[in-house]
Amino acid sequence: MRQPTARPFTLFVTCASLLIACGQTNTTQTPTASSTTSPSSAASPTASSAGTLAAIPIGIGVAQTSNVALLGQEEVAGAKIAEKYFNDKGGIDGTPIKLVFQDTGGDEQGAINAFQTLINQDKVVGIVGPTLSQQAFSADPIAERAKVPVLAPSNTAKGIPQIGEYIARVSAPVAVVAPNAVEAAMKQNPKIKKVAVFFAQNDAFSKSETETFQKTVKDKGLELATVQKFLTTDTDFQSQATNAINIQPDLIIISGLAADGGNLIKQLRELGYKGIIIGGNGLNTSNVLSVCKALCDGVLIAQAYSPEHENEVNKAFREAYRGQFKKEPPQFSAQAFTGVMVFVEALKAVNAKSKVTTQPLADLRTNLNSQLLIGKYDTPLGEISFTPEGEINQKAFYVAQIKMDADGVNGKFVFLK
Ligand code: ALA
Repeated sequence: MRQPTARPFTLFVTCASLLIACGQTNTTQTPTASSTTSPSSAASPTASSAGTLAAIPIGIGVAQTSNVALLGQEEVAGAKIAEKYFNDKGGIDGTPIKLVFQDTGGDEQGAINAFQTLINQDKVVGIVGPTLSQQAFSADPIAERAKVPVLAPSNTAKGIPQIGEYIARVSAPVAVVAPNAVEAAMKQNPKIKKVAVFFAQNDAFSKSETETFQKTVKDKGLELATVQKFLTTDTDFQSQATNAINIQPDLIIISGLAADGGNLIKQLRELGYKGIIIGGNGLNTSNVLSVCKALCDGVLIAQAYSPEHENEVNKAFREAYRGQFKKEPPQFSAQAFTGVMVFVEALKAVNAKSKVTTQPLADLRTNLNSQLLIGKYDTPLGEISFTPEGEINQKAFYVAQIKMDADGVNGKFVFLK
């Protein structure tokens, strides 16, 4: 008799309890995930006929849709380059990794849904994501409760690693990155006195970053002349921009995301502001260029990655990125690559002690988390390691300035010496 819904019991048990990416697990578009699975996850990892692991599933839960995709798409690109790079090198001692993409969209619920799908349905060993700190504060506790390691590729707000034992980040926090931009601005214009600060009050990262910027301004002996608030959903900044321009600042600092931040830069320039503008980490994408176009020219943005970093893995990453996108790799791509790399290196170390292909999934997730926190990694970001809490130890930071071409459409990030 035909029993269409029945699954062979043994296979079900194997899939549920061991690290085997079974059947359609990664290809199904689930109703709980907010959008599409990336084309790269269309061919799902499968168990071989012998029931051994064919590929190790690592989740990528970042924004592929919404305004936040301006950042998230760069993360998808970096992760995919890492997948090919490490699989070409033999994966985990001969077993390939398989990235499983779930779109978080731009909000908290989308991130929660994507994490739940990655954890419970796709049965990933760990997750690189989400894109925003605002999403991480909601989604990471789900991974923490499920004991699934998370590597944040771009969450720079204060307090991310402290969410739990399974949460670490490869994205250096605002406190160590942001002050570099203020120093660069003071070098370009030693006469800076009055500073106007803008921040998106509905975004956790922007609130955290503005605290660092405001403290830096005061610590450097500058005058914090006004603080203006906006929302990441705003498109009209006339009133806040006018308020700021009226006090004649020499420097304006913006903590927001790419779409809102880009529009704010545009409107500040259109209203006649001629001084230096610093954009925060949420504006650190060349996707901002299509928003403020020619008026992006000159904006300073601190960087946690330089395409020119001299190590073998960065040379390979840079070459692969440039080959595909005909431009220098951005920070978000480098950080996502690094997130995948940390999982790969840590999986290899776990495998040396006990085969990852035969460990029960729960054990592997826990062993992977413990291992990744004690490792040292030579990544595109330079040498990194983690504190026991999961905070990144990183050595080198940079500042770049946007230089627009004469066409006012194309432009690039020029790294300052
Ligand atoms: N750095 C930004 C955040 O943490 C993208 O949300």
